[in-house]
Amino acid sequence: MAAAGATLGIAGGLVRTGARAIGPPRPNLPAAAARGLGRARRLRAGASTSSATNEARAGEDDGDAPHVPVLMRQVLDAFDGRSLRCYVDGTMGAGGHASAIIRAHPELRTFVGFDLRIHTVQSNFRHMRERLAELQLADGGVDAILMDLGVSSMHLDTPERGFSFMNDGPLDMRMGPSAKMSAADVVNEWPEEEIARVIRDYGEEKHWRLLARRICDARGIAPIETTRQLVHALGRIPGVKKGRSGGIHPATRTFQGIRIAVNEELAVVEEAIPAAVDALAPGGRLAIITFHSLEDKLVKRAFRTFAGIAPASDRPLSAWEPQPEAPPKIVKLVTRKPVVADDDEVGANARSRSAKLRVCEKL
Ligand SMILES: C[S@@+](CC[C@H](N)C(=O)[O-])C[C@H]1O[C@@H](n2cnc3c(N)ncnc32)[C@H](O)[C@@H]1O
Repeated sequence: MAAAGATLGIAGGLVRTGARAIGPPRPNLPAAAARGLGRARRLRAGASTSSATNEARAGEDDGDAPHVPVLMRQVLDAFDGRSLRCYVDGTMGAGGHASAIIRAHPELRTFVGFDLRIHTVQSNFRHMRERLAELQLADGGVDAILMDLGVSSMHLDTPERGFSFMNDGPLDMRMGPSAKMSAADVVNEWPEEEIARVIRDYGEEKHWRLLARRICDARGIAPIETTRQLVHALGRIPGVKKGRSGGIHPATRTFQGIRIAVNEELAVVEEAIPAAVDALAPGGRLAIITFHSLEDKLVKRAFRTFAGIAPASDRPLSAWEPQPEAPPKIVKLVTRKPVVADDDEVGANARSRSAKLRVCEKL
């Protein structure tokens, strides 16, 4: 646990953590969570964790929230019935998951929220090990960690951030100030084959070669500096009626690929998972929500490795060949298949369509 009196930067300013340091044993909460406090206080009067969870679900009435959290019920279920005294939210966003978990777990004493632009632990979660170590939490003191990856609706709805092909804005796409380059740097400076690889591997776009060529043709005439200029450079995809491919805008996959490259999104998740697993207390749970198959595969592979399952060989092995050695088992898989949104949620929030939740538990 955090040393009594350790300081945590969270929404609303620097605060002291640790039950002994702040009197009434309540964590200092992010601003978005404050709405839930009255409810949490009522719940503390004898409510069990499960009934608290139900109440937290009933409290999901944030019609005006800037970002609607996905898989809320499933995330609450992942931690239901467990005593969460120390909880880490790896991707706080608008605090939707955070506030619901705080409401559902009145036993919570230490809350740590990571994000790149708000005043929580303002840090890329790739530095989770170092930041949690500063709070003396890196080594087995955390009961639950959630990472809800990707961009939030606030990113997409703010044209100046340059994430959206629907609004014109500078071609930026940096999630936080630590990103080394912007999307404009990628499209204007990277060699064509690198852009093609990004569109193919991170965008999973089958017309990668053509789209990379179009970007390079366009930048040969003038630098591509705005999202609208990039959409224009990409143009229509051949054979796709009205510029739509399987219900998604033709620029969707290219924008996704460039965003992943700019923010090194796969590398940061790969770095953060071992730090998160190390930080968990025995019985503690790590829940990760992904939004595209590359991330989901990465999370699946990492969880299986920590669960002691040897990675599948890329070719069939004969019986007399040395078999891959199983890694040490330090977690158990709580979800064997990813948990996905039900039809009601997909109907109400299109973002949840591609969300996948995986959960593992430290042994
Ligand atoms: C899908 S949103 C999370 C929404 C949040 N669960 C809620 O209920 O409002 C993802 C958030 O993760 C943040 N994020 C993405 N990559 C990050 C990273 N490497 N380190 C820290 N935060 C990151 C983004 O800034 C964004 O606010």
